[in-house]
Amino acid sequence: MATPHQGLSMSTSRDKILITGAGGMLGSYTDFGIQTTRDTLNVEDLAQVRVVFAKHKPSVIFHFAAATNLVECEKDPPGTYRANAVGTYNVALAAREVGAKLVYVSTSAVFDGKKEAPYVENDIPNPQNHYGHSKYMGELVVLGMLPDAIVARTCWMFGGGPDKDHKFIANILKQLEKSKIDVIGGKRGSPTYGKDFVETLVDLVEKGERGVFHVGNEGAPTRVDIAREIVKIAGAKTEIVEADAAVFEKQYPGAGARGNESIASTKITLRPWQEALQEYIGTEWKGLIK
Ligand SMILES: NC(=O)c1ccc[n+]([C@@H]2O[C@H](COP(=O)([O-])OP(=O)(O)OC[C@H]3O[C@@H](n4cnc5c(N)ncnc54)[C@H](OP(=O)(O)O)[C@@H]3O)[C@@H](O)[C@H]2O)c1
Repeated sequence: MATPHQGLSMSTSRDKILITGAGGMLGSYTDFGIQTTRDTLNVEDLAQVRVVFAKHKPSVIFHFAAATNLVECEKDPPGTYRANAVGTYNVALAAREVGAKLVYVSTSAVFDGKKEAPYVENDIPNPQNHYGHSKYMGELVVLGMLPDAIVARTCWMFGGGPDKDHKFIANILKQLEKSKIDVIGGKRGSPTYGKDFVETLVDLVEKGERGVFHVGNEGAPTRVDIAREIVKIAGAKTEIVEADAAVFEKQYPGAGARGNESIASTKITLRPWQEALQEYIGTEWKGLIK
């Protein structure tokens, strides 16, 4: 017999997807389901998680809520573990109680960055900072408690537009009037459009998938490559100059220390990062680039 979350038509299953942390960047791409934010569902509060899940009876949970600011996570380890490890335990426990399929968003920060090639699903995690440890604990909890769950690891996610993008791409877009911008090169990642990521999660659920998936737009650029692509897409003349990563590491110890962060999948393929970036800038930043 099919479990309640397998083989549902998307109109039914999208309505019954409950999203935690829907007020964040990734939440901008879930215009469906039951949206919860810290105010309506604090994942650190087990009693509240149980009440909210029992009320809505979701068939699927997209668990986005997390402490995500790497610098803050290093400053406040207890708070980081409470949100990311204990919070995920609470969500997994309550999901099991209501029979919901859990989709947990994890990160390439579970890896140590020493591999030359992009990390694939069966590489062994070896986190190097509190954020990575806390997210890996979340993975272990989810996979240990819910054999039907999906763990979707991603990397360098972008999106949110002018209101919710507080990261690298917005930062570059806002400086394009300058003649030159210094950007730290060296390490590689997988820039991933939040919109593509959410569509992939929905697709995986629809197909009744389970287990660990690396969900990233194809490619493994450095931040210098990305900045140059932004300049090209925007039709700007700004020169991108590669800066010294050691300076950043001195300012924010631990936060930028890992090497390679890029991911690839042995199971699925998303479109190339350049194509996704072009769509993001062309739609969500249309008319806003000076
Ligand atoms: N962005 C990336 O590059 C990236 C890469 C890999 C994985 N991820 C994962 O993707 C997920 C979504 O990330 P994002 O980029 O959308 O981050 P985000 O913009 O920081 O969103 C996270 C949301 O979670 C909420 N939250 C934090 N603690 C909470 C709690 N105790 N209870 C309820 N809500 C809480 C935050 O609310 P407040 O604003 O009130 O704190 C925020 O709205 C996270 O699980 C993250 O670890 C992100």
